Amino acid sequence: MDVAFVDDLNQLISQATDDLAAAGGSDALEAWRIKYLGGKGALKAVMQRLKKVPKDQKAAAGKAANELKNTLQAAYDQTVADLGDAGQPAAGPAIDVTLPGDKPTIGHVHVITQTINEICDIFGRMGFEVATGPEVEDDHHNFEALNIPPSHPARDPLENFYITEQTMLRSQTSTVQIRVMEHRQPPIRVISPGRVYRPDTVDATHSFMFHQVEGLYVDEGVTMADLKTCLDQFVKAYFGPDVATRFRPSFFPFTEPSAELDIQFHYEDGSTKWIELGGCGMVHPNVFEAVDYDTEKYTGFAFGLGVERLVMRKYNIPDIRLLFAGDVRFLHQF
Ligand code: DAH
Repeated sequence: MDVAFVDDLNQLISQATDDLAAAGGSDALEAWRIKYLGGKGALKAVMQRLKKVPKDQKAAAGKAANELKNTLQAAYDQTVADLGDAGQPAAGPAIDVTLPGDKPTIGHVHVITQTINEICDIFGRMGFEVATGPEVEDDHHNFEALNIPPSHPARDPLENFYITEQTMLRSQTSTVQIRVMEHRQPPIRVISPGRVYRPDTVDATHSFMFHQVEGLYVDEGVTMADLKTCLDQFVKAYFGPDVATRFRPSFFPFTEPSAELDIQFHYEDGSTKWIELGGCGMVHPNVFEAVDYDTEKYTGFAFGLGVERLVMRKYNIPDIRLLFAGDVRFLHQF
């Protein structure tokens, strides 16, 4: 009999038994199992060594090794049984469900976007669909096709963000009128919300970027009365049924006649004031000609409203910069 082999087995048993006694809890127990009974554990090593035991001693050594295996397994099983529930992950409530929880902070849609959605909803109910266009525009769509001649002051480099001589950040959403009419024939009823850019000095009422909603309606027999009714309906749906509207004569190169849309705002002290919301008018024949529409057959109206103005009026916001500062204390209110 290989004495060293049997000695080692005995030592292993006593070491393993000590370790097992010290192993408290399921994690330590599992570590013990891996160390002694696992696929790369001590028992496996013993079995490997068994192969090298001289033939005449193999039977006795094998028996001893087998006993070792049974002893370790039995000791392990016993410990697991003794540990009982304590070996399992702690029973009972892991969390106290009666404690007040931490509310997750959930973001929401910005008030500008909310308002654009609302505007699109209101006009949607009047049969308008949404069309969008690029923010980087060319001279043709921003000016030329809108009957704004090369000499017009609106083209001044100080009034626009030019990228090259022929491309720019659009200064108005009227560009989308042209883009829609280029590709479609009347009847057309579209609304185009989006960002526009002008190098204005930022103050309480100006920003270098703001939002407009453009509207366009082209068909046979469209009149100024349709325009007035449409915008009046919109104002009443957005601000409330008591808000009056009026048209003030104005000028835009792409409409004739043109008007400014005002609403009558009521203040808490009982006073009222007319406030400008945007421009509008009957589409100029030159604009129809730019998109090859038959000016004898079709008439149309167009309008452009400032979204920030609509938001600031409705929620009584005194400074446009609040809308772009990204301060959640402000934004949470909407
Ligand atoms: N594009 C004009 C602006 O930015 C607003 C406007 C006026 C749009 C009259 C229109 C319109 O469609 O008919 O000031």
